[in-house]
Amino acid sequence: MKIALIGYGKMGKEIEKIALERGHEIVSRIDVSSSDSFDDESFKSAEVAIEFTRPEAAFNNYQKCFENNVPVVSGTTGWLDKYPIVEKACKEDGKTFFYASNFSLGVNIFFEINKQLAKLMNKVKEYDVSMEEVHHTQKLDEPSGTAITLAEGIIENLERKNSWTLEEPKQDEINIKAIREGQVPGIHTIKYESPVDEIIIHHSAKSRQGFALGAVLAAEFTKGKKGLLSMKDLLNF
Ligand SMILES: NC(=O)c1ccc[n+]([C@@H]2O[C@H](COP(=O)([O-])OP(=O)(O)OC[C@H]3O[C@@H](n4cnc5c(N)ncnc54)[C@H](O)[C@@H]3O)[C@@H](O)[C@H]2O)c1
Repeated sequence: MKIALIGYGKMGKEIEKIALERGHEIVSRIDVSSSDSFDDESFKSAEVAIEFTRPEAAFNNYQKCFENNVPVVSGTTGWLDKYPIVEKACKEDGKTFFYASNFSLGVNIFFEINKQLAKLMNKVKEYDVSMEEVHHTQKLDEPSGTAITLAEGIIENLERKNSWTLEEPKQDEINIKAIREGQVPGIHTIKYESPVDEIIIHHSAKSRQGFALGAVLAAEFTKGKKGLLSMKDLLNF
């Protein structure tokens, strides 16, 4: 498959390695200094573009892909205020967009466990829930996109929680503590605490490989499809 990489940083390079191993061809690499390459025939020949850049750059990149009718797989976090516009482009204008706040298979299993646990907790009011996420110091957004997806999974399934906060929480809020340290690729911990015990679920990424493999699998899945796609479609949980 012909792949365009948008963003040639830590994730872009890891994705390139895995895509090549899986027999794909990288026809275009676009980074901040080469953003005019969207007009090149090589970019237009891509069957899928994989976009991992920065929160403020992502939406503009999606539009460039849409203009050229190149389907997009993106993992950039921190841009979701513009999601309704992307959704409209897919639903009304026939564009193709696959988004995941986290492409790792393990994290997507963790998302499902999180929802089931939240559902169970409706029956036991003694437990309060909180979350902690740890990432490397170059990460720009906080809390992480993964932490927000986890919080949304709890809010949808646990009646006593309505929103999340990085501040001191009210009773109906989930407190998220965001820690930035070292080179950590991503750790997420959810804790339910009662007066007598704690239940903790925890996911820790050992490297960026899991995210990169998931993004390449998503690109393979996206080829030839239309509309808004997600890990739910890919993994069929
Ligand atoms: N969804 C997931 O599974 C997942 C996993 C890891 C990281 N992320 C997210 O992916 C994004 C990238 O992470 P990273 O670790 O590769 O960051 P990085 O800083 O190493 O790389 C980002 C790259 O994007 C480039 N860039 C900036 N503006 C650009 C523009 N306008 N056009 C093209 N390229 C541009 C930068 O020059 C840099 O090379 C972040 O938002 C991060 O949170 C998501």
